[in-house]
Amino acid sequence: ARKIIIDTDPGQDDAVAILLALASPEEIEVLGITAVAGNVPLPLTQKNSRIVCELADRPDVKVFAGCDAPMKRKLHTAEHVHGKTGLNGPVLPDPTMPLQDQHAVDFIIETLRTEPEGTVTLCPLGPLTNIATAFEKAPDIVSRVQEIVLMGGAYFEVGNITPAAEFNIYVDPEAADIVFKSGIPLVVMPLDVTHKVLATRPRIEAIRALDTKVGHAVAEMTDFFERFDVEKYGSLGGPLHDPCVTAYLIRPEIFEGRHINVEIETSSELTLGMTVADWWRVTDRAPNALFIGSADDEAFFDLLTERLGRF
Ligand code: BDR
Ligand code: CA
Repeated sequence: ARKIIIDTDPGQDDAVAILLALASPEEIEVLGITAVAGNVPLPLTQKNSRIVCELADRPDVKVFAGCDAPMKRKLHTAEHVHGKTGLNGPVLPDPTMPLQDQHAVDFIIETLRTEPEGTVTLCPLGPLTNIATAFEKAPDIVSRVQEIVLMGGAYFEVGNITPAAEFNIYVDPEAADIVFKSGIPLVVMPLDVTHKVLATRPRIEAIRALDTKVGHAVAEMTDFFERFDVEKYGSLGGPLHDPCVTAYLIRPEIFEGRHINVEIETSSELTLGMTVADWWRVTDRAPNALFIGSADDEAFFDLLTERLGRF
């Protein structure tokens, strides 16, 4: 199984991504979950991470709290999408499993130093603050990372938080810039693909029909998450952004993209946090990312429903 660290800001879609990973031990070994401020402030994202582990009956998973604000900017949150707790929808008990004492950034550094070189994949599902802070604090770890598979950015679909930018990148563009310039192989799940993976009514009902604790909780999360896109954009369902990351680790063939150059806008007020993706290769800038553009959404939901059914 591939060893990963999930860096996250739950978030209903983050929660589903975590559940998919924990349901897939043959393919994925979760070394730890590092929480970051994003959709909601850090006290809630670390708590929600533990709520999700307990929902999966995995109180043994190590959860760490990381950075509570972007590297250089004030935190922007997304309660308008995720609700006040970040995990609105299901009613889930407060967690009793512990939060680890170690800071998430130090856990990331220590893990990359102790695991064999090139064997740990980072899976960021929120703003890239923890990851970039770890790289700044311990530059020696950068070359030890196997790959980064992240949710963030947009190209044809442009922005969901400003006209130009996707939320995760917009919240901490300086951190994103560090990650995109790190030289580590990147796989990027932008809105272009996540907006093709929609939790439509029949798909939510198939998950609810599992008739398990996890099935009901995920259906209630996606019910809540769906309302925003359906009401605001008239789409067929809410996009399951973050689960694209963990699904890619299990079945990469579900996704298609291009190896291209992607750079982050960090100065323009108008387009701050834009992922400037050279999709048509009109520059000679070296490719630094596999930028995903499409997915077999039926195969994605078949996989997700089957794996959630294992709980
Ligand atoms: C991203 O922002 C968050 O709201 C979601 O959890 C996802 O990671 C989508 O833009
Ligand atoms: Ca997220």
